[in-house]
This record gives sequence, C-alpha cells and structure tokens, in this order.
Amino acid sequence: MDIKEIKKNAKERMKDFCILCAECNGRWCAGKVPGMGGAVSGGSFQRSYEKLKEVKVAMRTLHGVTDPKLKRNFFGEELSFPAMIAPITGTKFNMGGYVSDEEYSNDIVFGAIDAGTIAMIGDTGDPNCFQVGIDAIKRANGKGIAIIKPRENSEIIKRIRLAEEAGAIAVGIDVDGAGLVTMKLFNQPVGPKTLSDLKEIISSTKLPVIIKGILTVDEAKICVEAGASAIVVSNHGGRCLNETFAPAEVLQEISQAVGNNITILADGAVREGVDILKYLALGADGVLIGRPIIWGSIGGRQEGVKVTLETFKSQLYQSMILSGADDVKNSKNFSCILYTKKV
Ligand SMILES: Cc1cc2nc3c(=O)[nH]c(=O)nc-3n(C[C@H](O)[C@H](O)[C@H](O)COP(=O)(O)O)c2cc1C
Repeated sequence: MDIKEIKKNAKERMKDFCILCAECNGRWCAGKVPGMGGAVSGGSFQRSYEKLKEVKVAMRTLHGVTDPKLKRNFFGEELSFPAMIAPITGTKFNMGGYVSDEEYSNDIVFGAIDAGTIAMIGDTGDPNCFQVGIDAIKRANGKGIAIIKPRENSEIIKRIRLAEEAGAIAVGIDVDGAGLVTMKLFNQPVGPKTLSDLKEIISSTKLPVIIKGILTVDEAKICVEAGASAIVVSNHGGRCLNETFAPAEVLQEISQAVGNNITILADGAVREGVDILKYLALGADGVLIGRPIIWGSIGGRQEGVKVTLETFKSQLYQSMILSGADDVKNSKNFSCILYTKKV
C-alpha cells in the first residue's frame, strides 16, 4: 500500500466530509466544524497553511551531511523521528463514520508504534471517544498520550487517573478547547484555566503534562511557571477560534522566550516531511500531524497510518540532506535557516 492508494481510498470513503484537495489549505472545508474544516470562514486553518508556506528552506548541498539523524526522545521514549500523531476525535460527525472511534484509536496508537512513534488520543463531548482511546493505549502497554478537554479540574484529574492506569507516557490538556462547539453539542462544560488551575492539575500526577493550544509568549511562560513538561503551539487546526495567528508565525518568539525551559511541539498544516523541518528550524522540538493521519486511517487503517508516517519520515530525511541539517536534536542551531517570503 502506498500513499497514493491510501489517499484515493480516503477520498472515496470520506465522501462529502473531505475531498482531499490537491492543497489541504482549509478553503473547501471552511466552516465545517463539526467536519474536517476550520471554524466560521476557516480563516485560522487557512492562515496556518499560508504562513507555513511562506517559510522557505535554504537549499544547501556543499557540506558533509549524508546521513542525518532523526531520532529524538520525548517524555522518556525515543521516537524514530520528531513527529507524533495529533489527538483527534469524533469519527462520525467529523469524518463521516467510515471508521468508528474505537477503530480510529486502534489504528493511530498501533500505526504510530509500527512507525516508531507515538499517538495522542483525544477527548470530546461523547465520553466513549476518550474511553476507547484509553483502551487502545492500555492494549499498547501504555504507548500513547491522552489529551483531555479543559473540563472542570476534578473531571480532568479523573481522566488523568484513567490514563495513569492505562500506563500512558504522558497526559495533556487542549486548553484551546475552552469554547468548542463540539463540546457544547454534548452539553459538556469546558472553560479557560488559571495558573492555579494548571498547578493543581500538574501537581496531581507524576506523568509529564502537555499544554496544547498556546499561541502567545505570555501563555507559554504561564505553562513554564505551572510546571508543564511541554506546550503545543497550535490553533487546534483552526477549529476553535477564527482569525487567530498561525503557529508558524508565533513559534520563533515563543521558542526564543521559553525554548530552554520546556519542550515545544507545534502543529498545523504539516502536509509533507519538509514542513516538519520548517517547524523545527522555527524552534519546535517536534511536531504533531493531524488531518493526514485521518486519511491514513480511513484510506488504509493501521497500515495506512504507518505508511503515512513513514512517508513523512523519509521526506524529512531527504530535506535534511538537501539543507545540511545534521541532527534533529540540533534543530535550534540548524543552518538550514529559513527565509520567510510572501507567496
Ligand atoms: C476532525 C478533527 C478533530 C480534532 N479533535 C481534537 C481533539 O479531540 N483534541 C485535540 O486536542 N485536538 C483535536 N483536533 C486538533 C488536532 O489535534 C490538531 O491540533 C490539528 O488537527 C493540527 O492541524 P492539521 O490537521 O492541519 O495537521 C482535531 C482536529 C480535527 C481536524
């Protein structure tokens, strides 16, 4: 099974939910939340895509980098390359239901392991979604990460306990889900978190805690102060708030401010391996991949997820050779420095 076949299958199976546009830029699916798109006009999703596109890589081939190193340790696990699967839920109302939430969780947790990396499972208004994700992590002997919605602290801590029992590597909160439409649909209260809320959650567990959905330096600093292990610079695939900044345009300043104190992950519009290189060179330690993994699961199930990840990995390898980047661990000093140009 190759990536072409996976995408062809996904296109047939997702029908009106996603038509796998030549450029996955948030235009066709604008406003489709629930669905695959970004909120309202799709402006935040589109900006994530466009701002990453504006970042260009300086090609360099007069150097000695012939076998770049891709391995990187996150939360005590050595990953084959610095990319993890983003938490995604709601297979029926977001993707058309070709796979169930249980099947999707299984595909991503085991597909990620097959490719030498790790999946994050998500949380939504339907309690079954989180539970089937936890069950998949348990079956995988804990090789997975659970990301919980910004519910009341007591509800978050309950779910952290479930993740601990499953042996999860880490837990997290997608704090940008504070006003999500999909939670409202299920009448599940979510809301913003204060510094003391975060401290209470983080001190309730020995697991590393990831705060997902940070777009400003001040909030990145709050996460450091609260004792979080990592942040994800993300606008949730543009699904929460329209007209946000793109991760690619705020990442550098966030990394300069807190990069020595906290692990920085970033996501949004990673569509090929070179996009990972761009985020690394902008200051991330690693990335999360969202929508392409949905195509992987629907188009080829567990193997489709593995092939999708391996395709990104080999593209990253090629792009590191062609830009003189020797080791993802040195990403903060990459000499493949980027030019940001208007496209
Ligand atoms: C259909 C769909 C469902 C999602 N569900 C969740 C979720 O349950 N929890 C979460 O933290 N993020 C969720 N996200 C956001 C992703 O984790 C990720 O931040 C985003 O998709 C990355 O952008 P990309 O899809 O362009 O790669 C979802 C995204 C999509 C497209």
